[in-house]
Amino acid sequence: MMNNQTENNSQKPQADPANSLFNCWDVRHSEHIEQQLSEAGQILANGGIVAFPTETVYGLGADARNTHAVASVFTAKGRPSDNPLIVHISHMDQLNGLVSEVRELEQTLIEHFWPGPLTLVMPVRADTVSPLVTAGLHTVAVRMPDHPVALALISASRCPLAAPSANRSGRPSPTTASHVIEDLSAVIDGVVDGGSAGIGVESTVIQVQADNTIMILRPGGVTEEQLSSFAPVTRDPALNHDSATALVPRSPGMKYTHYAPQGSMTIVIGSPDEVVNQYIEQEIRQAQARGEKTGVLVFDENPLHLADTLRLSLGSRDALAEAANRLYAALRTFDREGITFIMSQGCEQQGVGVAVMNRLSKAAGGQIIHL
Ligand code: TXA
Ligand code: MG
Repeated sequence: MMNNQTENNSQKPQADPANSLFNCWDVRHSEHIEQQLSEAGQILANGGIVAFPTETVYGLGADARNTHAVASVFTAKGRPSDNPLIVHISHMDQLNGLVSEVRELEQTLIEHFWPGPLTLVMPVRADTVSPLVTAGLHTVAVRMPDHPVALALISASRCPLAAPSANRSGRPSPTTASHVIEDLSAVIDGVVDGGSAGIGVESTVIQVQADNTIMILRPGGVTEEQLSSFAPVTRDPALNHDSATALVPRSPGMKYTHYAPQGSMTIVIGSPDEVVNQYIEQEIRQAQARGEKTGVLVFDENPLHLADTLRLSLGSRDALAEAANRLYAALRTFDREGITFIMSQGCEQQGVGVAVMNRLSKAAGGQIIHL
């Protein structure tokens, strides 16, 4: 869909004139939240698809047991059918209906991290969720989001909700209702607007291995450091984004160039900062000479002022939670401004910095320059 929004009005979601059935339930300052969520929940219970806020990013929900509803999610997103969905629950009772077994370490992690940005891949219970949700795998990914609106909506729908991020496939994940509307308002039943999602990058997807270690399939809001106090942690080797590996990731979604802005993007890593900046400056000048519209993504410690270049900041390198929070909106701003050539600085792969670098590298299609 064409997008004419500016930064200023992007905070105010507008109904879609092309889809009169589209609903926007703004629950931010509402006195009728219960009624609004009951309406949205009823649409979900009847097989509709509705986007909602979580503590990570906005999700596009459907009754996980209803194949027709789940199929509409794949169609609305343009998502490849071999990429399974995460099932969202609001009560522990729902878990046993979805998985065939919860092992001791899984139980411990659940007790510690739920509700929260940790998704566990577990053996699926037969004939419970639609086979489209699991993309034919023997496992199902489950999480309980830490967001009052998400929890209340799941409860109101009385369904376990299959919910991928509420973006068109390949676009940056949505962190506001406006982002959802930009991508999907013509093809979904509605969005519950609960303001900005908190963390800004998706949940950490893990699978407990037979030897009782934890394998990270997708880095995210819960860090490796947090998990390692419960068991040894490894990363799926296919996540090594800057080595030219041909490994197949265990989390099918990780093989796609997700999160990408429309312009070409390169990450530059090295020290000292001056060397990185010199390289970026030179590349930007050459791109401008070719007629490209240029942008840079920087950290506050290393500001880089370049003429005729849209400069967006990810905040301080010492506060990478802020970078996670700003990243997707920044990528969408580059698109909105028609930027065709983007150079980005990198950050330490520590804490949530692992997830930030993972998403940056995906956005750059793996183009990383080490100086
Ligand atoms: O924070 C989040 O997780 C957000 C919010 C909305 O909850 N959801 C989200 O969903 O990021 P999605 O569909 O964009 O990403 C789901 C990831 C994909 O990489 C998918 O391949 C992986 O989880 N996944 C789902 N089921 C799986 C399974 N059975 N085995 C391995 N990976 C699985
Ligand atoms: Mg996604």
